[in-house]
Amino acid sequence: LGTDGPLAKEIAKVIPYFPYKKLDRFYDIGGVLKHPKLFNAMCSVMAKRYRKLGVTKILGFEARGFLFTPVAIKLGVPFVMLRKAGKMPNTISSGPYTKEYEGVDEMCIQKGALVPGDKVILIDDLIATGGTLCAGIELVKACEAEVVECSCMIELKALKGRDRCLKAGAKDVWGFISEDILGE
Ligand code: PRP
Ligand code: MG
Repeated sequence: LGTDGPLAKEIAKVIPYFPYKKLDRFYDIGGVLKHPKLFNAMCSVMAKRYRKLGVTKILGFEARGFLFTPVAIKLGVPFVMLRKAGKMPNTISSGPYTKEYEGVDEMCIQKGALVPGDKVILIDDLIATGGTLCAGIELVKACEAEVVECSCMIELKALKGRDRCLKAGAKDVWGFISEDILGE
Protein backbone atom coordinates (compact mmCIF):
# COMPACT_ATOMS: atom_id res chain seq x y z
CA LEU A 1 0.00 0.00 0.00
CA GLY A 2 2.98 2.30 0.20
CA THR A 3 2.14 3.16 3.78
CA ASP A 4 5.84 3.17 4.69
CA GLY A 5 6.75 5.49 1.83
CA PRO A 6 6.37 9.22 1.21
CA LEU A 7 2.59 8.89 0.81
CA ALA A 8 2.19 7.79 4.42
CA LYS A 9 2.30 11.35 5.72
CA GLU A 10 -0.43 12.33 3.27
CA ILE A 11 -2.92 9.63 4.20
CA ALA A 12 -3.98 11.51 7.27
CA LYS A 13 -2.25 14.76 8.17
CA VAL A 14 -2.14 15.51 11.88
CA ILE A 15 -3.61 18.91 12.72
CA PRO A 16 -2.99 19.96 16.31
CA TYR A 17 -5.73 21.60 18.39
CA PHE A 18 -8.54 21.23 15.80
CA PRO A 19 -11.49 21.58 16.32
CA TYR A 20 -10.98 22.05 20.08
CA LYS A 21 -7.98 23.14 22.14
CA LYS A 22 -8.01 19.93 24.15
CA LEU A 23 -7.76 17.74 21.02
CA ASP A 24 -4.04 17.76 20.28
CA ARG A 25 -4.07 15.37 17.28
CA PHE A 26 -6.84 15.68 14.68
CA TYR A 27 -6.36 13.26 11.74
CA ASP A 28 -7.37 14.86 8.46
CA ILE A 29 -8.03 11.72 6.43
CA GLY A 30 -9.01 13.67 3.31
CA GLY A 31 -5.47 13.08 2.03
CA VAL A 32 -6.11 9.45 1.16
CA LEU A 33 -8.79 10.50 -1.34
CA LYS A 34 -6.22 12.45 -3.36
CA HIS A 35 -4.59 9.14 -4.27
CA PRO A 36 -7.17 6.96 -6.03
CA LYS A 37 -4.80 4.04 -6.66
CA LEU A 38 -3.77 3.93 -3.01
CA PHE A 39 -7.34 4.27 -1.77
CA ASN A 40 -8.54 1.59 -4.18
CA ALA A 41 -5.76 -0.75 -3.02
CA MET A 42 -6.73 -0.08 0.60
CA CYS A 43 -10.39 -0.93 -0.11
CA SER A 44 -9.30 -4.09 -1.97
CA VAL A 45 -7.30 -5.26 1.06
CA MET A 46 -10.35 -4.67 3.25
CA ALA A 47 -12.68 -6.50 0.84
CA LYS A 48 -10.26 -9.43 0.59
CA ARG A 49 -10.22 -9.75 4.37
CA TYR A 50 -14.03 -9.85 4.55
CA ARG A 51 -14.69 -12.05 1.52
CA LYS A 52 -13.70 -15.10 3.58
CA LEU A 53 -15.90 -14.25 6.55
CA GLY A 54 -19.33 -14.54 4.98
CA VAL A 55 -20.16 -10.88 5.56
CA THR A 56 -23.68 -9.97 4.45
CA LYS A 57 -23.63 -6.17 4.91
CA ILE A 58 -21.20 -3.30 5.46
CA LEU A 59 -22.33 -0.55 7.85
CA GLY A 60 -20.65 2.86 7.69
CA PHE A 61 -20.93 5.77 10.10
CA GLU A 62 -21.85 9.31 9.08
CA ALA A 63 -19.82 11.14 7.91
CA ARG A 64 -16.33 9.87 7.33
CA GLY A 65 -17.30 6.18 7.47
CA PHE A 66 -19.29 6.78 4.27
CA LEU A 67 -16.01 7.07 2.34
CA PHE A 68 -15.67 3.29 2.49
CA THR A 69 -18.62 2.36 0.24
CA PRO A 70 -16.15 0.86 -2.32
CA VAL A 71 -15.54 -2.01 0.12
CA ALA A 72 -19.20 -3.04 -0.08
CA ILE A 73 -19.20 -2.65 -3.87
CA LYS A 74 -16.12 -4.87 -4.18
CA LEU A 75 -17.77 -7.50 -1.96
CA GLY A 76 -21.09 -7.21 -3.77
CA VAL A 77 -23.03 -6.66 -0.52
CA PRO A 78 -25.27 -3.73 0.54
CA PHE A 79 -23.79 -0.69 2.30
CA VAL A 80 -26.01 0.49 5.16
CA MET A 81 -25.80 4.09 6.38
CA LEU A 82 -25.68 4.76 10.12
CA ARG A 83 -26.67 8.39 10.53
CA LYS A 84 -26.95 10.92 13.31
CA ALA A 85 -30.46 11.56 14.69
CA GLY A 86 -33.01 13.37 12.53
CA LYS A 87 -31.38 12.61 9.17
CA MET A 88 -33.38 9.54 8.06
CA PRO A 89 -37.04 8.51 8.41
CA ASN A 90 -38.25 5.36 10.19
CA THR A 91 -35.24 4.65 12.35
CA ILE A 92 -34.08 2.85 15.50
CA SER A 93 -31.83 4.99 17.69
CA SER A 94 -28.78 4.03 19.75
CA GLY A 95 -29.62 6.62 22.38
CA PRO A 96 -27.06 9.29 23.28
CA TYR A 97 -23.33 8.50 23.23
CA THR A 98 -20.14 10.48 23.83
CA LYS A 99 -16.97 10.62 21.72
CA GLU A 100 -13.44 11.92 22.10
CA TYR A 101 -14.77 15.23 20.76
CA GLU A 102 -16.98 17.49 22.83
CA GLY A 103 -20.74 16.97 22.77
CA VAL A 104 -23.19 14.10 22.63
CA ASP A 105 -24.47 12.36 19.48
CA GLU A 106 -27.11 9.77 18.67
CA MET A 107 -26.67 7.17 15.90
CA CYS A 108 -29.57 5.65 13.95
CA ILE A 109 -30.27 2.81 11.52
CA GLN A 110 -33.36 2.48 9.34
CA LYS A 111 -35.83 -0.19 10.39
CA GLY A 112 -35.53 -3.22 8.12
CA ALA A 113 -31.96 -2.37 7.03
CA LEU A 114 -30.75 -5.53 8.80
CA VAL A 115 -32.42 -8.91 9.20
CA PRO A 116 -31.79 -11.29 12.12
CA GLY A 117 -28.64 -13.30 11.46
CA ASP A 118 -26.93 -10.69 9.26
CA LYS A 119 -23.13 -10.77 9.67
CA VAL A 120 -21.91 -7.19 9.44
CA ILE A 121 -18.74 -5.11 9.42
CA LEU A 122 -18.85 -1.68 11.02
CA ILE A 123 -16.56 0.73 9.18
CA ASP A 124 -15.29 4.12 10.26
CA ASP A 125 -12.27 6.30 9.51
CA LEU A 126 -10.98 6.31 13.06
CA ILE A 127 -11.55 4.80 16.49
CA ALA A 128 -10.79 7.03 19.46
CA THR A 129 -12.81 6.27 22.64
CA GLY A 130 -14.97 3.76 20.74
CA GLY A 131 -18.18 5.64 21.64
CA THR A 132 -19.31 5.83 18.01
CA LEU A 133 -18.59 2.17 17.24
CA CYS A 134 -20.30 1.02 20.45
CA ALA A 135 -23.44 2.93 19.41
CA GLY A 136 -23.28 0.97 16.13
CA ILE A 137 -22.78 -2.33 17.96
CA GLU A 138 -25.89 -1.64 20.06
CA LEU A 139 -27.92 -0.96 16.90
CA VAL A 140 -26.74 -4.19 15.29
CA LYS A 141 -27.59 -6.15 18.42
CA ALA A 142 -31.05 -4.55 18.54
CA CYS A 143 -31.60 -5.93 15.01
CA GLU A 144 -30.52 -9.43 16.17
CA ALA A 145 -27.53 -9.34 13.83
CA GLU A 146 -23.82 -9.93 14.54
CA VAL A 147 -20.77 -7.62 14.36
CA VAL A 148 -18.04 -9.72 12.77
CA GLU A 149 -15.51 -6.88 13.01
CA CYS A 150 -15.11 -3.15 13.59
CA SER A 151 -12.86 -1.84 10.83
CA CYS A 152 -11.06 1.49 11.23
CA MET A 153 -8.40 3.11 9.11
CA ILE A 154 -6.74 4.63 12.19
CA GLU A 155 -6.80 3.38 15.77
CA LEU A 156 -5.81 5.72 18.63
CA LYS A 157 -4.61 2.86 20.80
CA ALA A 158 -4.04 4.89 23.96
CA LEU A 159 -7.77 5.60 24.28
CA LYS A 160 -8.59 1.88 24.48
CA GLY A 161 -11.69 2.05 22.29
CA ARG A 162 -10.89 -1.50 21.15
CA ASP A 163 -11.55 -2.94 24.64
CA ARG A 164 -14.85 -1.06 24.81
CA CYS A 165 -16.00 -2.51 21.47
CA LEU A 166 -15.01 -6.07 22.38
CA LYS A 167 -16.85 -5.73 25.67
CA ALA A 168 -19.92 -4.38 23.83
CA GLY A 169 -20.03 -7.55 21.68
CA ALA A 170 -17.85 -7.01 18.58
CA LYS A 171 -15.90 -10.16 17.72
CA ASP A 172 -12.83 -8.20 16.64
CA VAL A 173 -11.47 -4.69 15.97
CA TRP A 174 -9.06 -3.94 13.10
CA GLY A 175 -7.14 -0.66 13.01
CA PHE A 176 -5.08 -1.08 9.86
CA ILE A 177 -2.87 2.01 9.75
CA SER A 178 -0.54 2.56 12.64
CA GLU A 179 -0.56 6.04 14.15
CA ASP A 180 3.26 6.18 14.16
CA ILE A 181 3.56 6.39 10.37
CA LEU A 182 1.16 9.33 10.11
CA GLY A 183 2.49 12.80 10.62
CA GLU A 184 2.33 16.55 10.41
C1 PRP B 1 -15.26 11.19 14.51
C2 PRP B 1 -14.60 10.08 13.70
C3 PRP B 1 -15.21 8.83 14.34
C4 PRP B 1 -15.40 9.23 15.80
C5 PRP B 1 -14.36 8.59 16.66
O1 PRP B 1 -16.59 11.37 14.02
O2 PRP B 1 -14.92 10.19 12.32
O3 PRP B 1 -16.48 8.54 13.76
O4 PRP B 1 -15.28 10.67 15.85
O5 PRP B 1 -14.47 8.96 18.00
P1 PRP B 1 -14.89 7.96 19.15
O6 PRP B 1 -14.19 6.65 18.92
O7 PRP B 1 -14.43 8.65 20.41
O8 PRP B 1 -16.37 7.81 19.11
P2 PRP B 1 -17.48 12.68 14.17
O9 PRP B 1 -18.87 12.22 14.44
O10 PRP B 1 -16.88 13.60 15.17
O11 PRP B 1 -17.36 13.43 12.79
P3 PRP B 1 -17.78 13.02 11.30
O12 PRP B 1 -19.28 13.20 11.22
O13 PRP B 1 -17.01 14.00 10.45
O14 PRP B 1 -17.37 11.62 11.01
MG1 MG C 1 -17.12 10.02 12.33
